[in-house]
Amino acid sequence: MQIKEYAKKLKLSWIPANYQTIQAETHEKYLLKLFEHEVQHREERRINLLLKQATLPKIPNKPFDWKDIQLAPGITREYVLQGDFIENQENLIFYGGVGTGKTFLSTLISINTIKKKGKKVKFCTAAALVNALLEANDKGSLGKFLKQIEKLDLLVIDELGYIPLHKQGAELLFQIISMCYEAKSIIVTTNLQFGQWNNVFGDPILTEAVIDRWIHHSHLIIFKGDSHRYKDSISLNQ
Ligand SMILES: Nc1ncnc2c1ncn2[C@@H]1O[C@H](COP(=O)(O)OP(=O)(O)O)[C@@H](O)[C@H]1O
Ligand SMILES: [Mg+2]
Repeated sequence: MQIKEYAKKLKLSWIPANYQTIQAETHEKYLLKLFEHEVQHREERRINLLLKQATLPKIPNKPFDWKDIQLAPGITREYVLQGDFIENQENLIFYGGVGTGKTFLSTLISINTIKKKGKKVKFCTAAALVNALLEANDKGSLGKFLKQIEKLDLLVIDELGYIPLHKQGAELLFQIISMCYEAKSIIVTTNLQFGQWNNVFGDPILTEAVIDRWIHHSHLIIFKGDSHRYKDSISLNQ
């Protein structure tokens, strides 16, 4: 019983339930095994929590096809997929039509960076992010909300441009982007060319400022394929 209490105080969660199952020839080896398991268990718990907090969309259990993906010069698939751009506080802009894999790839990147690097990621649609920002603003908890975003390593803003934003929403989103500028990474997925971005933000001066900042530290990735959703539904019908 005392073991359990001490384990609780020391925040050891694996050891109290499992120490009796460990076999070892010496005290040192026994202790080493216990510690190894505890550390591994903690690491797994942390990763699971990070995955949960990231609120990632479900992705299909199949390999990502790079055939129709055009990377900006100077970057590689690995650089993108392993989240190396995060170390350099760079952003990615995924541009392409519906069903070309933007959500799929941004989710894969998120999973990799969480599992392999323990990064803190948040995935949301532009519309949901703006709604959350407006709500926090109304409730007077915007500061708290922004602090949460400040703690992230990677923010994925999916589907920018699908729905026009109201003036206040656009301003708040701009605030997020300015805040993240040079400090953390953002992936933006969009179906709009830069020239059309003012339709989203509704303010040409604001838009230009946003684009300038982003382009400075961003890599453009173009998704050129036909919609896989369309292709998938064709093959289903055959
Ligand atoms: N490059 C790709 N490789 C493999 N499957 C893909 C690819 N792009 C799209 N798909 C398939 O199409 C579905 C929709 O892709 P999604 O990433 O949601 O497109 P987008 O976000 O660009 O609209 C995916 O769940 C996947 O099944
Ligand atoms: Mg998508």
